[in-house]
Amino acid sequence: MKKWFAVIGDPIAHSKSPFMHNTWFHEMGIDATYIPIHVKSEQLEEAVAALKLLGASGWNVTIPHKESIIPLLDDIDPIAQKMGAVNTIVRQNDGSLKGYNTDGAGFVHALEEAVGKNKEKKVLLIGAGGASRGIAFALQQYGYEQIHIANRTVSKAEAIIQELGEGIALSLEQAEKQLDQYGIIIQATSLGLSTGENKLPISLDQLQEGTIVADIVYNPLMTPFLLEAEKRQAKIVTGLGMFIHQGAIAFNHWLGQYPNTEKMMEKLIEQLK
Ligand code: ATR
Repeated sequence: MKKWFAVIGDPIAHSKSPFMHNTWFHEMGIDATYIPIHVKSEQLEEAVAALKLLGASGWNVTIPHKESIIPLLDDIDPIAQKMGAVNTIVRQNDGSLKGYNTDGAGFVHALEEAVGKNKEKKVLLIGAGGASRGIAFALQQYGYEQIHIANRTVSKAEAIIQELGEGIALSLEQAEKQLDQYGIIIQATSLGLSTGENKLPISLDQLQEGTIVADIVYNPLMTPFLLEAEKRQAKIVTGLGMFIHQGAIAFNHWLGQYPNTEKMMEKLIEQLK
């Protein structure tokens, strides 16, 4: 029987996930389809029951449901539990629902695909929201040795560092001053979104040539942060890879195969131009 998958969120019309997964199904000869479903916060419980009843094999969860879906699941992967957020649901053979978080690991896969493994380099993560949290746990899980988190509200960075059990929390001003210490800098605040405020979370005056600079935003592909870093001869990693790999890891949870991420990168860059 044809399998089907979905992404639920509010808003959802802009999502590139249906295009991405349907392209992979086609490329890999898998008889399946993937649809976007607009689900408002107050409809989440009903929507999950409906997805179950109608036999979805799995689905992605995006804003604003990544946290609120957790109590509706039967089982949760330990890393997703630590992150406190789920973006991928797998309907297991016995019909039960298991939640995973592939965002953080998606970021690390994308980073390593773009610039290789650099676990010894000191990492500066800017931002301490949900996205940053996922990336911090994934960096630790993949063996990155030194993680510093800078945030406008320092207490939120401290909270994540405390949960990690290692690393340093600092203010944006402190990070700015010691920017030349870092080999990898990750912009994980909500600044830089095409609809958001158009400014940088920190000044890049102290940025060293050749530093790896990544952003989690992929629309626009070149955020103001990346444009500024590029001018200063940094190695740029756009947010598109994270998006593609979070999808690829979800795909692998559902179907046991890892799809072609490099070809997908070319296709999505074409679309985003
Ligand atoms: P997400 O789930 O995408 O991470 P979030 O949880 O709302 O979103 O977190 C947004 C992040 O962007 C936070 O780190 C926030 O800083 P605060 O914790 O101090 O609020 C950061 N952020 C948002 N707007 C910002 C701005 N104008 N300057 C600096 N940081 C900003």
